Amino acid sequence: MLFRSIRLENFRNYKEQEIEFHDKLNLFLGENAQGKSNLLEALFIMGLGKSFRTNRDSEMIAFGENFARASCLVEKDERKLGIDIYYQKEGKIIKVDGIKLNRSIELLENVYIVIFSPEDKKTVQEGPNHRRRFMDRELCQLKPVYYSDLGNYKRVLKQRNALLRNENRDKDLYRVFDETLADYALRIVSERESFTERLREISGDIHRKISDGKEELNIEYETEFFEKKQYKEQLAKNFESDMRRGFTGSGPHKDDLRIEVNGKDIRTYGSQGQQRTAALSMKLAELELIKKETGHNAILLLDDVLSELDFGRQRYLIESMRDVQVFITATDIDPNLRKMLPSGYEFRIEEGHAQRM
Ligand SMILES: Nc1ncnc2c1ncn2[C@@H]1O[C@H](COP(=O)(O)OP(=O)(O)O)[C@@H](O)[C@H]1O
Ligand SMILES: [Mg+2]
Repeated sequence: MLFRSIRLENFRNYKEQEIEFHDKLNLFLGENAQGKSNLLEALFIMGLGKSFRTNRDSEMIAFGENFARASCLVEKDERKLGIDIYYQKEGKIIKVDGIKLNRSIELLENVYIVIFSPEDKKTVQEGPNHRRRFMDRELCQLKPVYYSDLGNYKRVLKQRNALLRNENRDKDLYRVFDETLADYALRIVSERESFTERLREISGDIHRKISDGKEELNIEYETEFFEKKQYKEQLAKNFESDMRRGFTGSGPHKDDLRIEVNGKDIRTYGSQGQQRTAALSMKLAELELIKKETGHNAILLLDDVLSELDFGRQRYLIESMRDVQVFITATDIDPNLRKMLPSGYEFRIEEGHAQRM
């Protein structure tokens, strides 16, 4: 699977831009704040329908304009696919081959993307919300039905929280909500659990290789509930405290991943280097999982990460991208590193304009 080309109009700092891509490698070089990440963001959106940096679609519209458009041509199974996203202040319209999607979930079935950016360190370094986002993003790509289960769970949770805040004490009403909430919750839990198992195995192998056999990476899914009945009982038990706080205190929205290196929690005990390696192992595991489970090569986006890795890890990363189309951004690139990269196109990005060199 690969991107043939992209066209941007009023997208972030791009006024008007059309780019044809190379099948293997596309390298974007430029100073800070010129539009490198903006371009990868546009590609990411073509696959997942939303940004990896923000939930606010309106940010994509260039300052002072009232619409933005991003369109691209994707090649998949020898078929060409046109994806077009049109943003207005009121919302966005997504079209695939000219046909408007009713639900953005349909977009997820078209393009597989793995992005590795400095943000990914947060998955291993910061709070549980980053690890939930990691799981959710991957699962949405691997299993689009997960996307609707998660959306439904969040919707019912929001409604339940609204009841709590309004100090509604109608027990029968909660019984209905808790039943539905627990249904969605357990679907999410079981998908996350099985995803973690698959991820653990692959990322463990990768991590062992990157660390020359010195480090064992282990990933465990942490949840309070594995059964519907148990979750419903907990909801009932916590009713008074939930009411006091005005929100539902337990459920998959509290879950976490425990990431360990050599048996120790990496968040507390891992060095920066170990944390970076773990983040890299998890990303490369995503590539493999997508290949294994969908049969497609995902497209790899590397936003400003090469310079953060040491030579050995850079080499490992470059070897792993042999069969995939890659988009790399950097302020500059070390000549030794450049020699290892496959051949491809190189672009210079300046003030929202990309110029092929
Ligand atoms: N909606 C927008 N309209 C116009 N410019 C924007 C918009 N959003 C971000 N920018 C500009 O994009 C630039 C940052 O681009 P980015 O791609 O993140 O830079 P980098 O090249 O460092 O990755 C900043 O100058 C910022 O002001
Ligand atoms: Mg950037």
